[in-house]
Amino acid sequence: MIDLRSDTVTLPTQGMRKAMARAKVGDSRRGEDPTVRALEEHSAALFGKEAGLFVPSGTMGNLCAVAAWTRPGDVIVASSASHIAGREAPAVSHMASVAILGIDAPGGIFSAQEVAEAVLATPSRTESKVRLVTVENTHNAGGGTVFPLAELKRIRSVCAKHSLPLHIDGSRIFNASVASGAAPASYGKVADSLMFCLSKGLGAPVGSVLVGSGKFLAEARSVGLRVGGGMRQAGIVAAGGLHALKHHVERLAEDHENARALALGLSEVPRVEIVNGPVETNIVLFRWHHPALDMLSFRDALAGGGVQVDDRSFPFFRAVTHLGIGKKEIARAMRAFREIFGRG
Ligand SMILES: Cc1ncc(COP(=O)(O)O)c(C=O)c1O
Repeated sequence: MIDLRSDTVTLPTQGMRKAMARAKVGDSRRGEDPTVRALEEHSAALFGKEAGLFVPSGTMGNLCAVAAWTRPGDVIVASSASHIAGREAPAVSHMASVAILGIDAPGGIFSAQEVAEAVLATPSRTESKVRLVTVENTHNAGGGTVFPLAELKRIRSVCAKHSLPLHIDGSRIFNASVASGAAPASYGKVADSLMFCLSKGLGAPVGSVLVGSGKFLAEARSVGLRVGGGMRQAGIVAAGGLHALKHHVERLAEDHENARALALGLSEVPRVEIVNGPVETNIVLFRWHHPALDMLSFRDALAGGGVQVDDRSFPFFRAVTHLGIGKKEIARAMRAFREIFGRG
């Protein structure tokens, strides 16, 4: 199967498995796992922050950040198509008891002006105040769009003016960094906290890291422990993350190149339309107009050709390139697409 559903489907490489097998471990909940500590310190240094916190998932990293920055009844700002405002909304509204003010923005990229307006309008609309601004970079539902650093700096100024922290959901921040040429530390500089995932494009099996100041992370750590995020000999999986940070960042450029090749190929297929052209990173969004093809027959036909894409948001489809996809796989996927959409 050529699995283009997500960059979370990658399998650990042999080198990564070896690094995991060799990892020195201890009780990480007690702060005694040397490999977890090494991952947290390395991550903090990469983003120019004081400290890092290894958590089991991106969802937990975002929850820890939101709960640490806010109090029940507060409002947080996010793009309305963001992961925080969508899939994670039940978690943050239930466990951090905050309301989410969503900004509608093409590709999930909003402006500093829109943030300023949201911050100023919220008290009269809700009897509550915005206490946190979140940005997703790259933006998943927007099609792997890269948040421009210049706009992030302007958003940072708006936040500073209103004494608001800025949190970056950087699940795919290394895709943003490789695509834009901006160093991870430049994203760390504009954010008060940043979460990145090891288990997406970086290809590690488990985990995310939240970085920020020591004071913020002490609060975030206790939120994580309250919701059962304490891990024991987690160095085994942290070693996969360290290996990924060392070996799998620069190669993200290949994923971006493969995604662009896929988008170009799809754009030449009759009845198919690329939604997020020009493709910026590793995500291709497309839809089709084919009177004789419904979603189930499309899925079956594609699976028959040995290809899977993400079809949760029908009529939009998402194809994501990753560590397990090379030029050969893109060519094979294109043969399957041409064959399906070419049918009368
Ligand atoms: C932008 C974004 N944020 C957060 C998450 C949550 O990460 P996890 O699946 O590790 O909980 C995802 C997962 O797809 C995501 O795409």
